Amino acid sequence: MRIFAVNGSPRKKGNTETLVRAFLRGAEQAGADFELVRLTDLHIQPCIGCGGCEKTGECVLQDAMQELYPKIQAADRVVLASPIYFYGITAQAKAFVDRCQALWSYRRLRERKGEWRDDPLRAGFLLSVAATRGQKVFDGAILTARYAFEAMGLPYGGEFLVRGKDGRGELALDSGTLARAEEAGRKMAAGGDEEGYFSKNQE
Ligand SMILES: Cc1cc2nc3c(=O)[nH]c(=O)nc-3n(C[C@H](O)[C@H](O)[C@H](O)COP(=O)(O)O)c2cc1C
Repeated sequence: MRIFAVNGSPRKKGNTETLVRAFLRGAEQAGADFELVRLTDLHIQPCIGCGGCEKTGECVLQDAMQELYPKIQAADRVVLASPIYFYGITAQAKAFVDRCQALWSYRRLRERKGEWRDDPLRAGFLLSVAATRGQKVFDGAILTARYAFEAMGLPYGGEFLVRGKDGRGELALDSGTLARAEEAGRKMAAGGDEEGYFSKNQE
């Protein structure tokens, strides 16, 4: 199993990085291979809404995203990790998601020719961390992730969400949550659990 994971946090050794590494450690224990990319290290321009991809299925912008498209398409699991910034994902993660419009266009073009088949064994997974504990704090990120994964041609697999972590390194001190994140990563790589494809994980 191949996992492609992107981290949208600009903070090195931050809570999202800690979370995604724990999750991927679990997946690795279950036999998966992974690649983890820090979006803030890459030059990814925002979508310019030119409509070019609607004609060709490819994005006209030539930047680091061009190397990510084939990785998304080849992955069995795509993991989108981001802290919550103003009730949504970070600007870095949003630029990545918006540029997946090209994959949506590619999918539409293939569907029109009858050449598209959903692969139910693939899936997208959201990981997120927020400082606060509000009931709705992850709602925006979940909606964005669901539609992003749909554009990538991936059924939504589930999420692992951590509330109440703010300072850099705070999550690294919470061994219980990290153990549960590892377990969720193992389940993701193993293909699901008895409660469904993946269970919801909210701390
Ligand atoms: C610009 C900015 C906006 C934020 N907005 C929210 C928010 O709306 N709700 C919340 O609970 N936390 C918010 N936070 C806090 C982060 O989600 C929190 O510090 C998180 O642990 C950061 O993860 P990281 O260490 O991976 O970067 C915000 C932080 C920043 C810097």
